[in-house]
Amino acid sequence: MRTEGKRKHVFIRTYGCQMNVYDSDRMADVLRPLGYALAAEPEQADLVVLNTCHIREHASEKVYSELGRMRDLKTERRAAGGDLTIAVAGCVAQAEGEEISRRQPAVDIVVGPQAYHRLPQLLAEAERKAAILKAGKRRPGAGVLDTEFPAESKFDHLPAPLGVRAGSAFLSIQEGCDKFCTFCVVPYTRGAEYSRPAARVLAEARQLVEAGAVEITLLGQNVNAYHGEADDGSTWSLARLIRALAGIEGVARIRYTTSHPRDMDDDLIAVHGEVPQLMPYLHLPVQSGADRILAAMNRQHGRDLFLDLVDRLRRARPDLALSSDFIVGFPGESDADFDDTMRLVEQVGFASAFSFKYSRRPGTPGAALDGQVPEAVKSARLSALQALLGRQARAFNESKTGQTVPVLFAEPGRKPGQLIGKTPWLQSVYAEGKPRLIGRIVEARIVEGHANSLAGEIVTGSYEAAA
Ligand code: SAH
Ligand code: SF4
Ligand code: F3S
Repeated sequence: MRTEGKRKHVFIRTYGCQMNVYDSDRMADVLRPLGYALAAEPEQADLVVLNTCHIREHASEKVYSELGRMRDLKTERRAAGGDLTIAVAGCVAQAEGEEISRRQPAVDIVVGPQAYHRLPQLLAEAERKAAILKAGKRRPGAGVLDTEFPAESKFDHLPAPLGVRAGSAFLSIQEGCDKFCTFCVVPYTRGAEYSRPAARVLAEARQLVEAGAVEITLLGQNVNAYHGEADDGSTWSLARLIRALAGIEGVARIRYTTSHPRDMDDDLIAVHGEVPQLMPYLHLPVQSGADRILAAMNRQHGRDLFLDLVDRLRRARPDLALSSDFIVGFPGESDADFDDTMRLVEQVGFASAFSFKYSRRPGTPGAALDGQVPEAVKSARLSALQALLGRQARAFNESKTGQTVPVLFAEPGRKPGQLIGKTPWLQSVYAEGKPRLIGRIVEARIVEGHANSLAGEIVTGSYEAAA
């Protein structure tokens, strides 16, 4: 708990999607004025925040085993006369609320993804409760809970972003989801769709560039449904926002994720051909290639719409790398339906992809459907799909061999003297290089393509030009 005058440390562990990565950084920004610096390990922290994900059963169960470890740490700490504050944030916090403190009474704070700007008040309240407990007065009830979807947006209460890691920054522009796919918890954990005003987004982008960003990734659960209010009262689409962002000096790379096929409009497709800073990579989840299953998932589009989008996108930007998400074993999925998914994958050719076994989520319509698919069938389908997607990813990576491409170096590699960076197509590149190149875009010649990465050689002299 808080001791005046002493520097405190917070350890934040992030699960789930990039929106949680963004939120974790912003929680650190909110806690900094209270004197909290970041700790690399829970052992060095006064406060531990688990920023959780609820998307699949495996993701949310992991949280409870981690909480067990944190409880042990807290017990040890108390035996030694100290303390540890434990907070659960993110989508499990939103979905399970009080249930978390019931299952793990060592938890002090439960805070949802739309309420974490109130962390300072929640910490103060948790501290007050701990003091009452210590004094041996009545038991104040377990934990402090805030899982409201407040009328005011958290974005209006967050401080300016401080640090940018290695030239690349996330910027949340849209939150929540109104689509209600029948397998998905996000509309319940993140709430209704909301777009940040365009001027706010552009102001944050400028701050990020000042803090060292050369690449900005716009984030939202449904980022291409963005419709932000502009100062003149008009509404900006994602396409319009990207054009404005490209006008900010210093923004060399723009990406956005995650998109829904239904919201991929003509203007946004055109932007892929027009704006050089918009990177030739698009993550466009399709989930299934079977119309019957797409309808049961409530995806609000069929197979043909997706294939047509792919054609139009590739006409606008011929070198576009496509990525997607797939779910196998959704209730009612037959062998023929799964074949439709395999055929769609063969037809499109993906540069990368994520694929999952359907996970039955409490409270979603899919959980109550007949025709749940046996685990063994799901596993067999997942291996077949992953083998195909793996071959496609390798072929895509191999196709870059011999090319010289711009790479944004982000971190040191595992071997001494090695750096890891990203190509415009979001492939990881390993190359020998000096740490001072981290955060910069440098030309590299690709010497080999592997299953998950590329081996490259930095083109000597290109970084002087880039400086
Ligand atoms: N908003 C994005 C997806 C967010 S969740 C979209 O509309 O595509 C990320 C991915 O997790 C989804 O694309 C889906 O493939 C997977 N996913 C979501 N719920 C799931 C579930 N119940 N079981 C298995 N995978 C799931
Ligand atoms: Fe979930 Fe569907 Fe919304 Fe994506 S569009 S977040 S899959 S409900
Ligand atoms: Fe997980 Fe919540 Fe993201 S459920 S995927 S952390 S929006």
